[in-house]
Amino acid sequence: MDNFNLKYAELNEYFNKQLNKACDEISTSPEILGESMKYSLQLGGKRIRPVLMYSVGEILGLEREKLNPFACALEFIHTYSLIHDDLPAMDNDDFRRGKPSNHKVYGEANAILAGDGLLNTAYSILFGECFKGNEYISAAKFICDAGGIYGMIAGQSADLHYENAADADENTLEYIYENKTAKLLIAAVTVPCVLSNGRYYSEFKQFGKKLGYLFQLTDDILDACGSFDKLGKTTGKDEKEDKLTAVKLYGVDSCKLRVDIVGDDCHKILDGVDGDVNFLHDLVNFVKMRLN
Ligand code: IPE
Ligand code: IPE
Ligand code: MG
Ligand code: MG
Ligand code: MG
Repeated sequence: MDNFNLKYAELNEYFNKQLNKACDEISTSPEILGESMKYSLQLGGKRIRPVLMYSVGEILGLEREKLNPFACALEFIHTYSLIHDDLPAMDNDDFRRGKPSNHKVYGEANAILAGDGLLNTAYSILFGECFKGNEYISAAKFICDAGGIYGMIAGQSADLHYENAADADENTLEYIYENKTAKLLIAAVTVPCVLSNGRYYSEFKQFGKKLGYLFQLTDDILDACGSFDKLGKTTGKDEKEDKLTAVKLYGVDSCKLRVDIVGDDCHKILDGVDGDVNFLHDLVNFVKMRLN
């Protein structure tokens, strides 16, 4: 394995240990509530948001322990967004992370509650940090807002609203991308800045926004051209549901050119940050080339 893969694997493993500890604290009655929450959390996934948070933290000289609750809360919110995204009333996807979607295992009603439970537990974890100081309150609020009605939920709402849209444009697509995807990635890379007296906040905010665009661009390309075996989720769904995606607006070939352009934008932003940003440069390339 090269340095990038080794480091990604190490951060991923470190995060999974923290997540498992957080899961051990979940004990519900009826048991199915906690069981369904843990089912989706522990299916795996790339853990790109926690990996980003820890790697930016390292550049800023933050201890990982300080970030653990924020990384867990963010992954809880991300996982809840996936459970709800897969529901029949939303994207109606039967597979996630290579396994049956939450509602295929536990039924729709329990899947809704598993999502609610993950969101609420994320808030509880974040509130638990707030007594430590003002910067912790700011970081917690940042994550809440990123997942909220001016963030991920707004993006998901727009994603549904613009299904079958005949007249949607580039600005609408950018609004959807920025909110449904980029906001949680922006939170991942700016929470360490908020906890470090705002150092490099504006650079990382810009970086998260561009990386989010790149991430959804490649997600849309993979939906059109990827394979179920690698992705672990059904392909061809966006066209079937007539989603407003970059593939619909520009076509696959143009999207692939855009991947290079947006990737270059990400690299340029990183050039404005002092410190060892090599891992983040590699991570941009990983997102560009990803197959899952
Ligand atoms: C999928 O996110 C939803 C999008 C924002 C495109 P990920 O691709 O990060 O999903 P996991 O966590 O690896 O399963
Ligand atoms: C979902 O976008 C983004 C979320 C906030 C969950 P998609 O609907 O394209 O994500 P996938 O392809 O189902 O993972
Ligand atoms: Mg969706
Ligand atoms: Mg979906
Ligand atoms: Mg998709």
